[in-house]
Amino acid sequence: MERSSYPDSTRIQDEHRILAEHIGRIQKAIYATPQEDGIILSELRELVVVAREHFRREETIMQRQSYSDFLLHKRDHEYLLRNVIEFIASFVDGRAPASASVAEGFQSWLDFHIKKYDAPFLEFMTTRQA
Ligand SMILES: [Fe+2]
Ligand SMILES: [Fe+2]
Repeated sequence: MERSSYPDSTRIQDEHRILAEHIGRIQKAIYATPQEDGIILSELRELVVVAREHFRREETIMQRQSYSDFLLHKRDHEYLLRNVIEFIASFVDGRAPASASVAEGFQSWLDFHIKKYDAPFLEFMTTRQA
């Protein structure tokens, strides 16, 4: 889609919904009886791919617009990616179970990140576009 018909701010919000959907599917698979390990793993791996692409998009825009909170914001992106990647490794070799706190942890990170970092950034983008 062309940039003009699909503004960056809309795309970012659409991607937040997609991230939330992946996390929702991970939670559902964790809470299933028995746990759906295959789905947990494939959704976690998909989350890494989608999140990495989404973060790169935000970071590119932030850099382009000399956004002052860029480094802190980027650090929080890296924190999530590192956590998911480390969890996948531990889950695969059986060191860490997919517990309720794991399911809730990703969800709270997303809620917190959007509220604390993405909302002000989206606000900044909107005023820039006006
Ligand atoms: Fe975001
Ligand atoms: Fe972000």
